[in-house]
Amino acid sequence: MRGHPRAAILGRMTAPVSVTPVLVVHGGSGRISPEHHTAAVAGTHAAAIAGQRVLLDAGRCEDAVVAAVRVLEDDPAFNAGRGACMNRDGEFEHDAAIMRSRDLRSGAVAGIRAIRDPVLVARLVMEQTRHCLLTGEGAEALARAHSVGHFGRDEVWTPKAEAAYREVLEGRGAADNRADTVGAVALDNDGHLCAAGSTGGILFKLPGRVGDTPLCGSGFYAHPVLGACCTTGVGEAILTHLLAYEALRAAAEQPGAAQQIAERLCAEISGRWSNAAVGLILVRPDGEVAIAHASEHMSWALARGATTPESGLGRR
Ligand code: GLY
Repeated sequence: MRGHPRAAILGRMTAPVSVTPVLVVHGGSGRISPEHHTAAVAGTHAAAIAGQRVLLDAGRCEDAVVAAVRVLEDDPAFNAGRGACMNRDGEFEHDAAIMRSRDLRSGAVAGIRAIRDPVLVARLVMEQTRHCLLTGEGAEALARAHSVGHFGRDEVWTPKAEAAYREVLEGRGAADNRADTVGAVALDNDGHLCAAGSTGGILFKLPGRVGDTPLCGSGFYAHPVLGACCTTGVGEAILTHLLAYEALRAAAEQPGAAQQIAERLCAEISGRWSNAAVGLILVRPDGEVAIAHASEHMSWALARGATTPESGLGRR
């Protein structure tokens, strides 16, 4: 696709039928301590299997990405849901989002406190409101009104998050480039696409800080012509470059080159932002995928059709 982005918005809004379903997940771009490597890869692999199962049962792409993200939110290895990092005050504030291509509907929550499954609330915003993004108490009230979400410090606190917080508080470690935000993108049997992400944000963030994850076009995007993308890394670097939309737009200009384009964008943005961790996953409507990061690590997994998912911690 060439020309002004508007052409994409006005482009094909119905999807082809009978495509091979694809699901890609990531477990965060950044530095992962060696003792957590195995858990990071095992977790993304398990999430890919959960999402793949939905797609193979002819489920919708939104069900697949939510199933995958929920596995990662429940896994204490990741900075999302249970396992989320703490802000400067030792509190938990989560961001999450989802978007689907078939009608460009999206839903997101930002700064929702101590909740194990924020992606479910993001989905509520998409499906049960006329809005795209709810913050803090408003998001919490919506969740409670629909009896959605497991709230409470006990639902999200982990020894790993406590140790990381103490390290920074006591000057024994840096808060920068900690990994583990999670996300998933999917292409379903009907050719529809969806992206979803969930995060505790960045360690020791100021209370109220919001990163890229719940911002449409930055942390996620899904469109019938462009595809679906989900980003990870230091939100401030990513959101100032509208990475999710930009990666999809650039990949649509050069079919077959999505991987190189994604790697170039991640490297460029990281370079402009003091080597901040930057990563993304994307799937195009024709099934082409990109899994790219400019950081020490990014755990990922890819499930195509019914084949056993591939997974890894670095370049694919
Ligand atoms: N990418 C997650 C964040 O910066 O909040």
